[in-house]
Amino acid sequence: MATEEEILARLKPGCICKGIKLYKIQLAIDNGATSYEEVAKATGIGGGSCKSRRCGEKVAALLRARNH
Ligand code: FES
Repeated sequence: MATEEEILARLKPGCICKGIKLYKIQLAIDNGATSYEEVAKATGIGGGSCKSRRCGEKVAALLRARNH
């Protein structure tokens, strides 16, 4: 059973420009990504028009929350 946080993450945007949900970013971190670059490689974020200005802070916050 998915937690409320997981359900919300499936709906929330992670990378708006590529339509990648926050859940994909969380999954990449859970699977061992420890930096923005590793998350970007695993998910495909970062190549859009924001050039990490929007998604970079989301990834940093998730990495901090997971103690990376
Ligand atoms: S939100 Fe798409 S590359 Fe940053």
